[in-house]
This record gives sequence, structure tokens and C-alpha cells, in this order.
Amino acid sequence: MAISDWKKFLMPYEQAVEEIKVKLKSIRKEYRRKNEYSPIEFITGRVKEVSSMLEKANKFGIPINRLEYELEDIGGIRIMCQFVDDIDTVVKLLRKRTDMQILYEKDYVKNVKPSGYRSYHMIIKYPVNMIDGQKELLIELQIRTLAMNFWATIEHSLNYKYKHQKPIEISEKLKSAADAAFRLDEEMLFIKDEIKDAQKLFEVKSDIISSIMSSILTLTSLGRIADASRYQISLNKLIEDGEVWELNSLLFSIHRDIDKYKEG
Ligand code: GTP
Ligand code: MG
Repeated sequence: MAISDWKKFLMPYEQAVEEIKVKLKSIRKEYRRKNEYSPIEFITGRVKEVSSMLEKANKFGIPINRLEYELEDIGGIRIMCQFVDDIDTVVKLLRKRTDMQILYEKDYVKNVKPSGYRSYHMIIKYPVNMIDGQKELLIELQIRTLAMNFWATIEHSLNYKYKHQKPIEISEKLKSAADAAFRLDEEMLFIKDEIKDAQKLFEVKSDIISSIMSSILTLTSLGRIADASRYQISLNKLIEDGEVWELNSLLFSIHRDIDKYKEG
């Protein structure tokens, strides 16, 4: 194939990779705008180099006119997540989309490859609209944590150095580094739950505190200034380190007083 034909062949892939990147970045934006945690940390994309397409075609005896059907990773997208359970969230999100069709999935997070490689793969069919009309392309999505990405990037660069003939001791070191990276992911996941719990507790407490403050205002409007300031002092004592039950019992007392004064 002449250079100009390659350029024409690859153009829809460039388009698809750009479009998918924009779409995935807007998922992140949507979470951020809602002040919610985003399961997507960042996204990269690439179109395969002609040289590595030819190398693969040669290796597997794929005729050039079959490349678009036989090579599933001419267009590739990587989605990086902070935590390992974010991968699952992203997978579910992608399954719900109507602008891409998932052909199949490979879970190398659960089924780690002998090299130590972990990632979740999806092969999708993605339609792009070019001036000649619509074209459906195969695109590979790789979803992985930052730690998995770190490992895969290092390991990939060593493949270049050793041309897939890595000395056994290097392969073993890499496998053990992959497992260490995964242990890090699992430990971070534990901390993530802690963070989530802390955030939940904070929300519960701030809800009770705002109910207490509005009840104190109600007391003031009922003319019960002394009671109001007594409750304000109690609240001030609890605001920093008060337990949920202490705040709740304070709220209960104020409500009881309000009911009493309203009746009386
Ligand atoms: P390829 O011929 O590489 O496409 O393999 P495959 O068709 O059997 O698919 P697989 O899902 O195994 O791998 C697809 C892609 O995942 C590769 O192109 C790499 O980007 C990545 N990958 C798979 N295994 C490894 C690995 O051991 N190390 C690294 N760094 N990346 C890997
Ligand atoms: Mg492949």
C-alpha cells in the first residue's frame, strides 16, 4: 500500500480515537460538575503505527485487505482509573452506551496473564461518519488502574529492548513487580472505602447540625432566647468531635422544647 493509501486507510481511525476520547473525557467532566468522584482519571488514545501493523500482518499471515477485520487494535483507547473497583464502574458505564457496540470483553484483571499483565479489555464496533458515508471500525479499549498502567508501560518498553526474548530472571522480576503493584491497588481500595465512610459520616453529621441550627432559630422566634443560647452552647461543644447519637439527642431535646412551647 502506498503512503497516501495508508493515510486514507487510517483517517477514520484517527477520527474514531479523537471522538471516543472526547466522549470519555466528558464522562469525567459530568462527574466533576456534580461534585462526584469520577471513576475515570485520564484517557489516552493512539492509532497503531503502520510499521507495527505490517509486523503483525506478517507474523499472522494477514493480507493487507483483511487488516481492518483481523486487527482489532488499529485504534486503541486507554482508560486509567485511580482504584481497582473503578474499572467495574467504567465497564458498566460503557455497556450502557448506545454509540458503541461491544463485541467481546477480556478480563485480565481477574485472569492475569502469565507475564503479570492486568487490564480489562473491550473490543467494540464504533461507527464514524466520514464524507464518503458511515464506516464501522473495530477499536480496542483497555481499562486499567494507574498502577497497572505503570507496570504495563515499563514492561512494554523492555519488550522493545529484548525483542520478546526477555531473560527468565527479568520476566520473573516483572511478574513479581506486577503482583506487588496489584497488592498496592488492593491496599488503596481499602483506603478508598475508609474515605467514602468518612465522607458519608460527614454528610450525616452536617444534616443533623443544620436541623439543630434551624430548630435553635425556631426557639428564638418563639421568644425562648435563653433556651436558644443554652442549646447553641451545647451545639458548639459537639460540632468538632460530637458523635452522631449525641447530636441526635440534642436535636431531640430541642424538638421536645419547641413542641412544649407551641402547645403552651
Ligand atoms: P495482541 O496480538 O497483542 O493484540 O494480543 P491478543 O490479540 O491476544 O490480545 P490481548 O488481549 O492479549 O492483548 C491486546 C493488547 O493488550 C496488546 O496489544 C497490549 O497493548 C496489551 N497487552 C497484552 N498483554 C500484555 C503484556 O503482557 N504486557 C503489556 N505491556 N501489554 C500487554
Ligand atoms: Mg489483539
